[in-house]
Parts: sequence; structure tokens; C-alpha cells
Amino acid sequence: MDTYKRIVEKLNSTGIKYEEVDQTAAKNRSVDELVRVTVMTYGDGMSTLFFKNERDEYIVILRRDDRNVRTQEVKKLSGSRSLNFAEENDLEKLGFETGLVSPALLGELQEKFPVKIYIDSMVMDNEKVICGIGREGYGLKIKVEDLLKVLGKYKVAEITEPNLKRQAGVVSKKRILTGDTPSGKLHIGHYVGTLENRVKLQDEYETYILLANNHAYANYFDKSELINQNVYDVFLDNLAVGIDPNKSTIYLESGIPETHVLYSFFLNMVKHSRALRNPSVKDEVRYKKLDPSLGFISYPILQAADILQFNASLVPVGEDQLPVIEQAREIAKDFNKAYGNLFVMPEGRVGRVARLVGTDGKEKMSKSGHNAILLSDDEETLKKKVMSMYTDPNRIKASDKGTVEGNPVFIYHDAFNTNKDEINDLKERYTQGKVGDIEVKEKLFAALNTFLEPIREKRKYYEERPDEAKDILISGTEKARKVVVQTLEKLQSMVGINKLIEKE
Ligand code: TRP
Repeated sequence: MDTYKRIVEKLNSTGIKYEEVDQTAAKNRSVDELVRVTVMTYGDGMSTLFFKNERDEYIVILRRDDRNVRTQEVKKLSGSRSLNFAEENDLEKLGFETGLVSPALLGELQEKFPVKIYIDSMVMDNEKVICGIGREGYGLKIKVEDLLKVLGKYKVAEITEPNLKRQAGVVSKKRILTGDTPSGKLHIGHYVGTLENRVKLQDEYETYILLANNHAYANYFDKSELINQNVYDVFLDNLAVGIDPNKSTIYLESGIPETHVLYSFFLNMVKHSRALRNPSVKDEVRYKKLDPSLGFISYPILQAADILQFNASLVPVGEDQLPVIEQAREIAKDFNKAYGNLFVMPEGRVGRVARLVGTDGKEKMSKSGHNAILLSDDEETLKKKVMSMYTDPNRIKASDKGTVEGNPVFIYHDAFNTNKDEINDLKERYTQGKVGDIEVKEKLFAALNTFLEPIREKRKYYEERPDEAKDILISGTEKARKVVVQTLEKLQSMVGINKLIEKE
């Protein structure tokens, strides 16, 4: 049976989800060529390298394509004196067709041959990898945790060093694009839902943050003054929580008119019925009791343009936005299928608390729900909000046994109080009826205040330096626009939309 069939059968029989990636655009099998023509970076790819030692044992190394193997280290680990690349006939003996090795069959091989498997620890940093699927022109995209299930016995070890050429500029860092529709100052729910992720990931990713003012006009086209105020507040909130303008690029959405050219092309790609079915849109219409504008119904398509124009692979967002990312993926896929690989498949990433309850115990914190603690709240406002928070409604006196689960005060403690011993002590006493609400809330206030203090300070820094803030936004928008212009030009030439007026 051919390699590919065996792999597919194996994966299907274990119920593991995987994706077959079309790499047929590549002219040869070199990793450089794959990266050049397909939607991946070196760090996404994983190679399966077969060596043979002096005892005719096979040593298999799985390493990311942006790393080089340190052979000495592997020798030591595997107790080998010499290591040579396995030859064509060795691989054939193991059951692979020429050039079509895949890690998916390694578990089986171990049952028949002396095979030792070492995975470079850097592989474990990836959520998914793209590796061989035993079929010419195609790759296997699989979650690392799922791949491990079919490997049999293996060891994770530090056996590589960076491949400097591949890491330096040949292919740049992966990108993040994210942002907020400005509807006022951001709150602590935004922080745990997405802001925190942005700040954390800005070192690792080339990060673009958009201030989505076009999206705001879809809600109220005639309120530009309000929108500008809201945009500015969201801008300051992003800086305040630690988006570093030296690392990340913050830009104003409307400052890149090319986005609308992409957007209007994408509008043709999405069926009307599909747009109306989008759960993010439907939920918001219901929740805010909107009579939505056409712009609002199609905001996920504008958002797809926001994301795809940067070829962003990661989009940190709140949970409610995941269906919007799904829409962007569909557009990317359909475009790539029709005209060739242009767009990277973006993935959403939700923060550690997907949906933070409001201070009133309602399911979701929101500014319009008047149940939000703002990142910019001063100490006094914070204290008022915390001290009047909803807790366990069945608990009347401090000596009543209280419920911790689902109790907003404890949810906030868990999310923002860094003193875990204090939380555990409070929870214990609360369930036993040995602590009053006041003490629990006062400690929560203290924890939140400590959390907000540096954020307020940074906000103040930029509030006092409006020129510096403005420069950040101007230069960010200029920089981001250059990237978008490139993408648009590529798209237009792939589509051939202007062929008839092109000068030779
Ligand atoms: N719709 C998002 C929100 O309501 C804001 C947004 C616009 C966005 N464009 C985006 C988020 C692109 C992530 C990526 O907050």
C-alpha cells in the first residue's frame, strides 16, 4: 500500500483531526521553495530526518525548519559513535517511497525496526506543524499534541540551534493583527480577553494594532466626534496596558484607504445568506437591539480585509469574535483556491478569561451594560464599583455559608489578585460563613488597584504628551499602509483586474 494511504488510514482510524495542505505550487521539495510559494514560515515546517548509527539503528530527529540539528548532542543522547544520513534504500526498507517520509508512521516502524525518535524541544512551542503526509505536493498540518499520539516512544530534547539564515529576514516574523471597534474606554474584561495577549505576544510577533474607526461608522455614521473621542480613548488604553510603540505598530483603520478596495472585492466572495448567518453579527444585533446598517451586517468582511491585508497568522480577540475570524479564513481559502496562494490562514486566540462577568453578575461585562470596571477608573471610582458588586444573593449575614463558584467577586479575585494564598483563605472562610463580604471586597479592591496603578500612570504619561501620542499614530499608520499597498498590488495582479489598462 502506498505511504500516503497508510498515513491517512492511520490518522483516520485514531480519529485525529488534521489538514492536508496544498503545496503543489512549489516547483520542488526544498523547504525554501515551500516557504516561498506557500502560506507558511520556516518555523511552521517540521522535517523528519533519518540517521543511521554504527549499530544500524535508526535515529529519527523531528526538528523545526528554522533550526539546525546539533549532531554531537544527538550522538551523546542516543549513544552513537557515528551518525550518517539514512540512504534511499534504507528508507525504502522502512516502507517510504522516495522523498516522502512522514512522522505519522513512526509509531508503527518502531514495532518492526530499531528506531529511536528524538523531538527537538522547540517543536513543542508550536501549536501545529506542517510535515510530510507521504504525498507529492502536499503537507500534513497537525496539532503537535496529536502528532505525539502516533509517534510511539520518543524523547523531547534540546538538540538544535537556530538556523540564522532562515531566522534572519529570509522569512520574517509571523504577524499579529488585532484591534477594537472604539465604543468608549476599555475595561478589565478586554484586558483578560485580549489586551494581555497582545502585550505578551508583541515580542514574538510583528504586531499591528488597528483602531477600527471604520467599524464604528457602521454603527453610527453621523457621530464622527464621538467616534474620534472613542478612538483616542482606545488608543491610550492600548498604550497604557503596555503596547510598546517601539515594538508594535498602532494605526488608524481609515488611514489606509486600500483596505476598502480589498473589502469591496471580498464582498463579492461572501453570499448574502452567509453574512446574515454570522453568529457574532446576530448576537450583537440581538443584544443591542439594533436595526443594523448594511455596513454592520458586513463588518466581518471588512474585518477580513483588516486581517488578511497583513497576512496575519494570529488574531488575539475576545471570544465573541471567533466567528468573524472564521469568516476571514473562508475568504482566504476561497481566494487562494481561485487565484493561487496569497493569504495566510489567520487563527483567533482568546485570552485566559474568555468572558468576564459584569460587576452586577450579568454574563458579560460591557460599557453599555453599566457593569464595567474601566482600565482608566480612578481609585475612588474603583472602590465604589467594587464595594457595590453583586455577590452570592443567598447570603444575608456574614455567618451564612456562601458560594464561591460563579460569584463575581471571586471570579475577579482569581483573575486579578496575584496573592493566591489570600484567595484560598478567603474562599475557605467564605464557604464556611467566616468572612464578611466587606473584607472580601476590600481585598479585591486592593488587588485591582495594584493592578490598575501602573496602567493609570502610563495613560497619564501619554495624556500629558499629546504630540508624542499623535506621532505614534501617524508613523504607525504610514508604516502599516506600506504593507497593505503591497498586498493589494499583489492581489490585483493575481486577479488581473486592471490588465486592460496596464502599460507594458
Ligand atoms: N470587530 C472587532 C471588535 O468588535 C474590532 C476589529 C476590527 C478587529 N477589525 C479587526 C479585531 C481585526 C481583530 C482583527 O472589537
